[in-house]
Amino acid sequence: MSDQELARAAELISGAEALLVCAGAGFGVDSGLPDFRGDEGFWRAYPPYERLGLSFTEAADPIHFAEDPAFAWGFYGHRLQMYRRTVPHRGFELLRSWGAATEHGARVFTSNVDGHFQRAGFEHVAECHGSIHHLQCLEPCTDDVWPADDVSVDVDTDTMRAREPLPSCPNCGGMARPNILMFGDWSWVPQPSEARLGELTAWRRDLRASRLVVVELGAGTAIPSVRRHAELASAGSGALVRINPREPEIRHGRGVSLPMPALEALESIEKLL
Ligand SMILES: NC(=O)c1ccc[n+]([C@@H]2O[C@H](COP(=O)([O-])OP(=O)(O)OC[C@H]3O[C@@H](n4cnc5c(N)ncnc54)[C@H](O)[C@@H]3O)[C@@H](O)[C@H]2O)c1
Ligand SMILES: [Zn+2]
Repeated sequence: MSDQELARAAELISGAEALLVCAGAGFGVDSGLPDFRGDEGFWRAYPPYERLGLSFTEAADPIHFAEDPAFAWGFYGHRLQMYRRTVPHRGFELLRSWGAATEHGARVFTSNVDGHFQRAGFEHVAECHGSIHHLQCLEPCTDDVWPADDVSVDVDTDTMRAREPLPSCPNCGGMARPNILMFGDWSWVPQPSEARLGELTAWRRDLRASRLVVVELGAGTAIPSVRRHAELASAGSGALVRINPREPEIRHGRGVSLPMPALEALESIEKLL
């Protein structure tokens, strides 16, 4: 990767009139979070599941909430604690300041459920897979979604099982679960996520001829929702900066591709602004 590519990225960003940040799990890696890439990455983060021989998709399956809630809440309760404990890295603040310097500000589209953009001070965050900081009924008996702020789940990290009491639905008293879109998930309550996505679409429509620059970070190819969103949002202009150490190629062939870790890339760009 050449200095020339970094300079092109800095030029795009300094000429932006609006900034769209698109982020996948790789953006949290520099805060110390695992990205769950492949069984090995998942097992390094969660050795107990390696002993059980379970992949990420098997551990994360919503069926466990009905069949073995202590096991289901073991995984999600542990993640809730991990995302609460982890402090978002400085790259969040750099992006926020770049966005604040543009005429129309910054918006975020992310598949991350960790709530770190909000913690870093972003006001407009569209979470396409929901948020671990909100709960819903397992049934669900209503479309209600409520904050998990008062919830703390006690997890035995040897067995990855949660101890009673487990979170319950205030309406029907049944089991509660995180408002996250899981694999093969038919009972996710999508309204909060859809509302934020609708606001993002309206914002983009109102931008009209303004120079929108898309900065995409840590988005993988396995579940390409974030990559697709970033490529479509930059299809007309080519104004895409893709930051990804292992999967940097851009399908529409334009834009700037930076094969490096997100924080290092953002700090290098900051020096050129
Ligand atoms: N923090 C979270 O909320 C979190 C964490 C893990 C998984 N998930 C969920 O799991 C799914 C995983 O899909 P995904 O595409 O987001 O992740 P992924 O794990 O499939 O891919 C991560 C990508 O990040 C890149 N990457 C690794 N280290 C990086 C770094 N330091 N800087 C920049 N990029 C780096 C990798 O090359 C890869 O392309 C998503 O649906 C997401 O909801 C969420
Ligand atoms: Zn209920």
